[in-house]
Amino acid sequence: MLIQRLLLMAAMLSLSISALAATSVTPPHLDRQKLPYGCGSCHVGFNFRTGAGSDGCVACHGNPSKLATGLIGGGLKLKDIEAEFKKTYRHPVFDAPGLHNGNETLPETDPRAPRHAECVDCHNPHYVDPANRFAGIKGKRVGNLTADITQEYELCYKCHGDSANLPGRYTNKRAEHSINNPSFHPVEGEGKNLAVVSLLRPYKEKKVAPNDVSVIKCADCHGSDNAASPIGPHGSNFQYILVDNYSTKDNQPESPYTYALCYRCHSRTSILANESFKFHAKHIQGTNQGLANGTSCYTCHNSHGSSDNRYLIKFNPAVVTPNARGVLKFAEKGISTFQGECFLSCHGVDHDPKSY
Ligand code: HEC
Ligand code: HEC
Ligand code: HEC
Ligand code: HEC
Ligand code: HEC
Ligand code: HEC
Ligand code: HEC
Repeated sequence: MLIQRLLLMAAMLSLSISALAATSVTPPHLDRQKLPYGCGSCHVGFNFRTGAGSDGCVACHGNPSKLATGLIGGGLKLKDIEAEFKKTYRHPVFDAPGLHNGNETLPETDPRAPRHAECVDCHNPHYVDPANRFAGIKGKRVGNLTADITQEYELCYKCHGDSANLPGRYTNKRAEHSINNPSFHPVEGEGKNLAVVSLLRPYKEKKVAPNDVSVIKCADCHGSDNAASPIGPHGSNFQYILVDNYSTKDNQPESPYTYALCYRCHSRTSILANESFKFHAKHIQGTNQGLANGTSCYTCHNSHGSSDNRYLIKFNPAVVTPNARGVLKFAEKGISTFQGECFLSCHGVDHDPKSY
């Protein structure tokens, strides 16, 4: 009975897949030249529910020296994706397996649902293609329809946006990147600040010349620590699956390495020469007073966006507290004037306000 239903489903899928094949190029997983065992490459023993799960994927996308002969045709050589998941910081594909359900809708609405991320949450095995690795992945619901994902960030928002089961210390990345915020890193669209004086080329506030880059991706900051590794936010040796080092700690010496991620796009020379915020160097490198070493960008800036302030200002509550009058606030004074004031307390120094 069950087998019959599955065979029927399989037949229906083959039909829709052959319809697809008639109109466009066959996706590689359904191409017999590339996967000589066809559907059975993944649906071992008629397992149509999980198709062998993420372990099945790395039978081909894992260590090439362990690849079973005949599994891949056409002399193709695949990159080792499995190795990325052995790094310290990674998506929990192999740490929390078996939690994905083909019928689930994301973002999750049940606050008690366990968190997961399997290969098929991010890549549809029947449609994925080197030209579109999100092909066939359903995104947000629009009326009765779920539209296919076209932008990387839409994929991420399925689990890092409005999910009811976000772990306590994590924040809603969709809300932070909203282009209606006073400030945001320009992922969904161009940013609002026209005087980001530290920007290194090709990055620009607005795209004017063809080579200008004014919109960035989650992948510009999140991905492998090694540029030669396969692309994607699979795993990294840097915390938060970042492409470069970034320390969020307070009271530490500044160096090109400490904030390497930011210095990829923002000139360290410009920041430490106080070209925008007059007291950048004082805070980042430290003083002989309360703060012997410096403090992280993270103490004052959010890396994604701020729903309250311009300049990505969002103070780290572990370091910055309300001032003696109980006020914790940032106020800018005019746009692109590099003037503002802070009401807060930090390392025992009361700001009520301190102006720049
Ligand atoms: C590259 C591996 C792979 C190949 C090749 C593959 N499948 Fe799948 N298939 C999967 C995985 C993995 C799932 C589970 C998807 C999920 O849970 O979201 C699945 C799910 C299914 C399902 C369940 C319903 C659905 O669409 O989610 C059917 C039916 C199915 N596959 C049929 C086929 C047929 C027929 C073929 C050959 C034309 C085929 N598959 C080829 C990996 C594969
Ligand atoms: C039987 C071997 C095999 C299995 C199992 C398999 N793949 Fe593939 N995969 C391939 C081949 C071959 C290609 C095509 C590579 C090419 O055309 O360069 C491919 C392509 C891809 C691509 C696009 C790669 C690129 O270079 O951009 C992704 C993503 C992908 N597979 C993910 C998965 C996932 C997820 C699973 C498990 C559900 C899976 N694969 C299971 C063999 C396999
Ligand atoms: C299917 C769900 C899912 C999708 C889609 C997804 N993630 Fe995740 N992600 C997780 C889970 C689960 C974790 C483990 C921590 C948690 O529960 O949030 C995680 C962890 C992370 C972390 C590390 C957090 C830390 O504290 O170290 C980063 C960074 C991240 N994801 C970025 C992304 C980006 C960028 C995308 C889009 C390209 C994305 N994720 C898509 C589920 C997902
Ligand atoms: C300019 C660089 C940059 C961009 C772009 C960026 N991130 Fe991050 N992300 C960071 C840094 C730095 C951290 C660690 C510090 C922190 O938590 O803010 C981080 C932390 C995270 C975390 C773990 C902490 C948490 O609150 O969940 C997730 C998940 C995440 N980012 C997802 C995303 C997604 C999704 C996108 C794209 C929509 C994105 N990031 C774009 C730099 C970036
Ligand atoms: C959290 C989401 C997520 C998960 C989980 C995930 N991937 Fe990816 N993967 C991505 C993204 C995003 C890219 C880059 C897509 C792009 O920009 O074209 C990518 C890229 C790839 C590529 C192309 C790499 C290259 O350099 O050509 C392959 C192959 C791949 N993934 C396979 C897998 C396999 C196999 C698994 C499970 C073991 C997996 N992915 C798990 C999001 C994910
Ligand atoms: C003590 C708080 C504080 C710390 C720490 C801090 N900043 Fe800032 N930063 C500010 C303020 C305030 C502004 C807004 C200046 C203005 O009014 O335009 C600013 C503006 C900026 C700007 C936009 C203008 C420009 O220079 O391009 C960038 C980029 C920036 N900071 C990057 C960084 C980086 C990178 C670090 C860490 C290496 C860092 N900041 C550490 C407070 C801080
Ligand atoms: C991949 C390139 C890239 C990286 C990495 C990057 N930024 Fe940016 N950042 C930009 C771009 C592009 C803008 C311009 C947005 C605009 O014009 O509003 C910007 C703007 C800013 C602003 C000003 C935003 C505003 O609205 O005033 C601050 C502050 C900032 N970045 C801080 C950081 C910090 C801190 C880091 C490291 C955690 C970092 N950036 C990493 C590309 C990057």
